Amino acid sequence: MGEGERTMSLMELKDISMDFKGRGKEKIGALVGVNLDIKEGEIIAVVGESGCGKTTLGKIIAGVHEPTEGELLFKGKNIKSLNKKEFREYRLGVQMVHQDSYAALNPNKTIFQSLSLPLFQHKLAKNNVEAVNILTEYFEEVGLTPADQFLEKYPHQLSGGQRQRILLARALSMKPKLIVADEPVSMVDVSLRISLLNLMTKMNEKYKISFIYITHDLGTARYIASHGRIVVMYLGRMIETNQIREAIESPKHPYFHALISAVPEANPKLRSEFIKKLPLRSLDMPSLLDLPTGCKFHPRCPYFDDRCIQEEPVLREFKGGRVACHHAEKVLEITSKED
Ligand SMILES: Nc1ncnc2c1ncn2[C@@H]1O[C@H](COP(=O)(O)OP(=O)(O)OP(=O)(O)O)[C@@H](O)[C@H]1O
Ligand code: SF4
Ligand SMILES: [Mg+2]
Repeated sequence: MGEGERTMSLMELKDISMDFKGRGKEKIGALVGVNLDIKEGEIIAVVGESGCGKTTLGKIIAGVHEPTEGELLFKGKNIKSLNKKEFREYRLGVQMVHQDSYAALNPNKTIFQSLSLPLFQHKLAKNNVEAVNILTEYFEEVGLTPADQFLEKYPHQLSGGQRQRILLARALSMKPKLIVADEPVSMVDVSLRISLLNLMTKMNEKYKISFIYITHDLGTARYIASHGRIVVMYLGRMIETNQIREAIESPKHPYFHALISAVPEANPKLRSEFIKKLPLRSLDMPSLLDLPTGCKFHPRCPYFDDRCIQEEPVLREFKGGRVACHHAEKVLEITSKED
C-alpha cells in the first residue's frame, strides 16, 4: 500500500465518552474523552486490563453503542449526518468479531442459515445458490474446506477455532473496510492462535481491511500489529499510543512500562524490577465508581507527586507517540537507566 493511501482516515473518534448506569443507577464512566484516528488499511491493537473499556470502545466504533458524548466520523462525515446509502456503507463496512464464537452464532441454525441471513438482508445475494457461492469463496479464504461440510453443521458440531474462522468469513462476506476483533483468539486453543492471527494479517494485506485488535495479551498484540499502532487504555482513558514496535521497545507511561515488564516475552530487555516496585503503593485497580482524583494511576504510580493528585494529565505528543503523564520526561530518564 502506498503512503498516500495510508494517510486516509476511515474513522475518527472525537472526544468520545460513554457512561453506563450501574445497578443502583450510579454512573459508570466506561470511556472518557477518547480521540482516535483509524486510517484505511491500518492495524491498531487496543490493550489494557479487564474493565478498562476495550469492548465498549469496539462497540462504539461498530455502532453497537451510541456514545454519551463525542463524535464519530466515517470517511470524514459525522455518522449522525450520513444519508441512508452512506449509513448502510458504514454499518456493512464496520464488522465486529466477538470473543465468544459460540454465543455469536445461533445454536439452532445451521452455519448456512446464520450466515446467509445477512447476505439476503443486505441484498448481497438473491437466492440460496448465490449465497452458497459467496460463502464458499470466503470459507476457502479462511481455510474451511470443503465449505459445504461446514455450511451444513450446527455451531456445537464445530471446534472453537473453526467457529472463529466462520465469524471471520461472516465478517468478510459483508466486504468490510474495518473489522473490530474483540479478543478473537482468547477462547481458542493456544496452538491455533497463530494461524488465526496470520489469517487476520492476510486479510489486512489482501483486502486492505483495517483492524482494531482488542486484547489483554501484549504478545499477540505485538504479533498482529507488528507494523501497526498500539493504544493502551487505563480506566476508560487512552494513556499511551505509538507505533507498536517503538511502544514496546520504549514504553513511556509508567503503567504501560509496568505491563510490559510483567510480560518478559513482550520485551526481554525490560526486566521485572519495575513491576516489583509498582505494587509497593497499591496492587488494586481502582473502581470506576470511586475513581482517584487527578491522574487515575497515581495510587499505583511510584513517580506520583502533588500535581498528579490534583490534575488529570492529557494525552500529549511525546517522542513520536502520545502519552498522558505529567512527568513522562523524568520517568523516561529514570526507567532508561534502570533498563
Ligand atoms: N452494558 C453495560 N452496562 C453497565 N456497565 C457496563 C456495560 N458494559 C460495560 N460496562 C462497564 O464498563 C466498564 C468497561 O467495560 P468493558 O467491557 O468495555 O471492558 P473491557 O476492557 O472490554 O474488559 P474485559 O477485558 O474484561 O473484556 C466495566 O466497568 C463494565 O462493567
Ligand atoms: S501523571 Fe503522575 S501519577 Fe500519573 S503516571 Fe505520570 S507520574 Fe504517575
Ligand atoms: Mg472486553
